Amino acid sequence: MSISQSPVQLIDHLGREHLRHALGRDVRTGMAATPKWLPPKWFYDEAGSDLFSRITRLPEYYPTRRELAILRRQALDIAVRSGADTLVELGSGTGEKTVLLLDALSARGTLRAYTPVDVDAATLGDAARRFASRYRGLVVRAICADFETHLALLPRTGRRMVAFLGGTVGNLAPEPRGAFLRELRATLCPGDSLLLGADLVKDPRRLVAAYDDAAGVTAAFNRNVLRVINRELGAGFEPEAFEHVALYDERHEWIEMRLRASRAMRVPIPGLGLRVSFAAGEEIRTEISAKFRIGGLRRELTAAGFRMECHYTDPIGDFALVLARV
Ligand code: AVJ
Repeated sequence: MSISQSPVQLIDHLGREHLRHALGRDVRTGMAATPKWLPPKWFYDEAGSDLFSRITRLPEYYPTRRELAILRRQALDIAVRSGADTLVELGSGTGEKTVLLLDALSARGTLRAYTPVDVDAATLGDAARRFASRYRGLVVRAICADFETHLALLPRTGRRMVAFLGGTVGNLAPEPRGAFLRELRATLCPGDSLLLGADLVKDPRRLVAAYDDAAGVTAAFNRNVLRVINRELGAGFEPEAFEHVALYDERHEWIEMRLRASRAMRVPIPGLGLRVSFAAGEEIRTEISAKFRIGGLRRELTAAGFRMECHYTDPIGDFALVLARV
């Protein structure tokens, strides 16, 4: 093990109390709605991040492999076109793909700083330390934050490339997605760029299989949100009493994940002074994961004030990386 020479800074905008407060607000809102829903960001505590890592290695879950394949081929081109010295990564996770981008930027000799942003502090800290020891002199400024609400807090120095990979942008519904892209655009300066990963529309059977794997890892990941609520809000959800549902909505071109109550039940949530009733078969929507077309991506980026410079796909056209400029 080499001793790190690089400075690592971890800024936490999401202390435990803040998290619990934000989760409480979301659970209160989502459980009062018809149909019930929960935002997908609450999947990602330490256990949820580990489950997601396992998902990325499943045979059915193609997006991570496709995106990695694109990055392996194109990272240098992306580095050259962006001219970035600072990589900001939204929803950085374990940072498997980051290495490819950082290697390319470092090979060009421009790399100065890396800012990973993630909601899970444990995963973020690990990644930050790993990268600081891998790249001598790299300034690592890790930010524990929710990329939707904390965009304004991102560093404003350097020539930045913001990477938002994995297709996570698809977790936002069209309207909040537009708002997010506009807001992101507003934090960037001329010369900065956005590298956006987006899963593409394809055969619904392959899409559904990717979100309903045979080994049941995605089901465990889906139910993990109930474990998070139990732990943080003292709730009495029985995760095993909810069935994992993944379906493709052809009209909206998005995957929906749901948790379906296998019987009628009442769930206490003492942290909110609430009891939530479920009818047998009632569902909670826990995630949408939108699938894109290149033309739609161009329209959305243009509407937000970006200029789409180029896009890269894998040979079968499963996944796209788009490089957009300000
Ligand atoms: C991490 C948001 C890109 O939407 O495909 C994987 C999350 N959910 N399996 C996705 C997820 C179910 C994933 N993203």
